[in-house]
Amino acid sequence: MFDTMTLTKATGALCGSLLVFLLGGWVADSLFSTGGHGDDHVQGFVIDTGADDATDVVADEGPSFAELFAAADVANGERAFRNCAACHGLEKGENKAGPYLYGVVGRDVGAAEGFAAYSGALTAVVDVWTPEALNAFLENPRGYAPGTSMGYAGLRKAQDRADLIAFLDQTDGTTYEMPAGEEDAETSPQEAAPE
Ligand code: HEC
Repeated sequence: MFDTMTLTKATGALCGSLLVFLLGGWVADSLFSTGGHGDDHVQGFVIDTGADDATDVVADEGPSFAELFAAADVANGERAFRNCAACHGLEKGENKAGPYLYGVVGRDVGAAEGFAAYSGALTAVVDVWTPEALNAFLENPRGYAPGTSMGYAGLRKAQDRADLIAFLDQTDGTTYEMPAGEEDAETSPQEAAPE
């Protein structure tokens, strides 16, 4: 009899506690999930319209390469060439640590006569040095052509690159003509090419 009473009390106490835990847990749960649902709803209403596509990003970066190149300052490009002069000559056949850059704009990649030290890394990523290809290469040589032996970190300023390429372009007395049809595609496809 005594034992049964004790057992009953103990069971009652246990059930009571369980009930408290259960209710407490339930209350806490509903509080948290209310917050959770609120967040879910905020997320739920974000609808991806695809509006912020690549054109917006390009627009935010200032003038395109084509615009900078069209208005390039050759004299500034000649100054920027000081970054290159230690390794590159401008006369045909004037190879130094790097190949001569005479007429390099529009030239086949890896085609300087008499230059035997090409790494092969450049021809692996590009065929012809278009202004766009040079722009991408000179911004980040090793990023553009992994494994290149050109020990140069890159010319960060877009304006300087455009000016320098315009300077290099006139070393052979001619200016680069965009192949017909490429002008329309000047932004996305060619900028995506290095990847
Ligand atoms: C420390 C020396 C060094 C400097 C500085 C340097 N280059 Fe080079 N450059 C090289 C070497 C070496 C190569 C050959 C790279 C290879 O084959 O991977 C090369 C390759 C090139 C090519 C490819 C030529 C071809 O025939 O395919 C171009 C274009 C070029 N450099 C432009 C520049 C310009 C422009 C600058 C200055 C902004 C510059 N380089 C600075 C050493 C240098």
